[in-house]
Amino acid sequence: MSKLIDNVKEVFNKTAIYAVATASKNGLPNVVPIHYVKLYDEEDTILLVDNFMNKTTKNLNENPWIAISVWDYDRKQAFQIKGEANIITSGKVFDDAVSWVQKTMPQLQPKSAILLKVTNVFNCQPGPDIGKEL
Ligand SMILES: Cc1cc2nc3c(=O)[nH]c(=O)nc-3n(C[C@H](O)[C@H](O)[C@H](O)COP(=O)(O)O)c2cc1C
Repeated sequence: MSKLIDNVKEVFNKTAIYAVATASKNGLPNVVPIHYVKLYDEEDTILLVDNFMNKTTKNLNENPWIAISVWDYDRKQAFQIKGEANIITSGKVFDDAVSWVQKTMPQLQPKSAILLKVTNVFNCQPGPDIGKEL
């Protein structure tokens, strides 16, 4: 069953800048704001584009886990999305990432595409279900 149920997708798709967290193999955390993040397919796969990443991709080479935080303050909905990432530097997924970025920012040359397979989604909105896994 999809982890990204409709209300998670709505909040996710409305987000402009995503808080993307990784960790080194020793557990040192790193969080960055990332704009180029979108649902890639209906199999709970998320595409992130690496234009400027440094510690983020270094961490992913040591430890593939990512957490993304999204929230809609007005609608009072918030989610934590976790999954395992693959870094891709050639082929269709990479080409899709480059075309997507260059449609709006033709001067950028993405270094890699990061495909995140979602494994867990948690509710982050204060209330009776806070912290619960969906
Ligand atoms: C508003 C905003 C949006 C950003 N979007 C992206 C992005 O889509 N892709 C990217 O690689 N870096 C993006 N960055 C840069 C990253 O936040 C970060 O500076 C970069 O990954 C280097 O940090 P790191 O060494 O921790 O990975 C963005 C920065 C800001 C402020």
